[in-house]
Amino acid sequence: MKNSAIYPGSFDPLTNGHLDILKRAALMFEKVVVTVAVNNKKTALFSGEERIHLIREAIKDKDWSSRVEIELFTGLLINFARKRNINILLRGVRQISDFEYEFRMALTNRRLAPEIDTVFLMPDEQLTFISGSIVREVAAWGGDLTSFVPDNVAAALRKKFEDLNGI
Ligand code: PNS
Repeated sequence: MKNSAIYPGSFDPLTNGHLDILKRAALMFEKVVVTVAVNNKKTALFSGEERIHLIREAIKDKDWSSRVEIELFTGLLINFARKRNINILLRGVRQISDFEYEFRMALTNRRLAPEIDTVFLMPDEQLTFISGSIVREVAAWGGDLTSFVPDNVAAALRKKFEDLNGI
């Protein structure tokens, strides 16, 4: 489908960096399907459903949110894209260090599905240091998450670590 793109990731949890990329994408495409991967080898902090809920809450008041769909996916991303008839994958690239992994993944996906292309977007430069792992680490030690994640995600992280620590 033309004018649609898939924005895949773990989103464990959604960060302000993801949100910045998603906004850019939603202003560029008529439809952006955020696909939340639940088959990653990484152990997730939030369940797939929780991650979807956090994204939905974070974008609900944005004037571009009607162009965003959010779905879980397992298996190969290209199979999901083919099923949805979408041939653009979006990935955010923050720094040169991201590029090696992203380049390998994009070329693997292209080898598997030549009709599907990956488009890289850069977030605002102020957000380039933010990652899911940094956010989880700051949250685990009770740090201030204000500039890292949307407010609803910060609240969910606080609760998650209170529950995990039995507070
Ligand atoms: O947010 P992440 O963890 O960097 O996202 C990585 C993700 C989920 C996009 C990637 O691991 C993925 O596409 N996984 C599904 C399996 C697949 O299709 N891999 C691509 C071939 S390497």
